[in-house]
Amino acid sequence: MKQIIILLLLILIINCLDIQACSCLSLQTQYDCENSVTFQIANQDLFDLRFCHWQQGKCFDIRKDIKITCNFQGQENCLNLPQCAWYNNKCQTFTKCSDYIYDKSILSTSCENNYCLDNGTTCAFDLIGREEQKCEDIAQEEICVKHYLLYKNTICNWNGTQCVGQIISSCSGLNQKQCIQANSQCSWKNNTCGKRKCEDGQYSYSQDEGVKLCSSFLDIETNQVIYCSLNEEGQCIIYDPVDLDRKNCHAQSFQQYAWDPNNQECKKCI
Ligand SMILES: *[C@@H]1O[C@H](CO)[C@@H](O)[C@H](O)[C@H]1NC(C)=O
Ligand SMILES: *[C@@H]1O[C@H](CO)[C@@H](O)[C@H](O)[C@H]1NC(C)=O
Ligand SMILES: *[C@@H]1O[C@H](CO)[C@@H](O)[C@H](O)[C@H]1NC(C)=O
Repeated sequence: MKQIIILLLLILIINCLDIQACSCLSLQTQYDCENSVTFQIANQDLFDLRFCHWQQGKCFDIRKDIKITCNFQGQENCLNLPQCAWYNNKCQTFTKCSDYIYDKSILSTSCENNYCLDNGTTCAFDLIGREEQKCEDIAQEEICVKHYLLYKNTICNWNGTQCVGQIISSCSGLNQKQCIQANSQCSWKNNTCGKRKCEDGQYSYSQDEGVKLCSSFLDIETNQVIYCSLNEEGQCIIYDPVDLDRKNCHAQSFQQYAWDPNNQECKKCI
């Protein structure tokens, strides 16, 4: 699956948890606004969504802080706006993936352009979480087995004919494939699946352990954010976000903190 980078903008869809990311409006620096890259972890490949847009000294969420009329948008703009869909050669307000039916020959590409998958007949499964995501809506085995719905603690498994969701409450008991699939919260080490720790982020992406970069994450058992960052020795360790510098403050804090330019400090968003 291609990495989806929405050009103008970006963010987060963990609304089912209590964890609230900083809103775009609460970001006071152009740097935080433009780099507010958040993964919507529907997939093992963390893909970045950009919904914040810096304009006239303020940071806006292009999904809700700026009024956009989809009907007036040309194709290129339309494709970059998550609230719009390009359909019947017109830009329309996005409703739900399954409302879009295209000719077989262009179904897959057209669905992807609207940030949906296709199920062979219609578009299905919203890749960026505008509507509820269910494993059951994924029709292709190879896509199914890569998905982990973070905010629902759900692993997608292929049962032979269909993609089915399995809710997990801990990492133990997951096999290697599932453990790597859930690598936003779990880590495969020493032939067992355990809870992810900061130190797992010290290894490179490509290891079979399926661990990833040094980033903060949600603890699978407590649903608390575990803050990690690299120290001077290059080790990924637990970190207090208030000690993060301007460049790392927002990015390394699971989008919970942002740089306050007046006091020159990394502060929790409220
Ligand atoms: C594709 O999704 C549509 C809309 O949800 C559904 O009616 C249809 O049965 C699905 N087709 C397949 C092959 O799963
Ligand atoms: C796969 O899951 C579907 C839906 O839960 C079920 O109807 C079907 O029987 C299952 N197939 C197998 C082979 O278990
Ligand atoms: C791996 O597991 C074995 C057996 O459970 C244990 O003896 C060993 O200390 C573990 N190694 C690491 C690095 O955790």
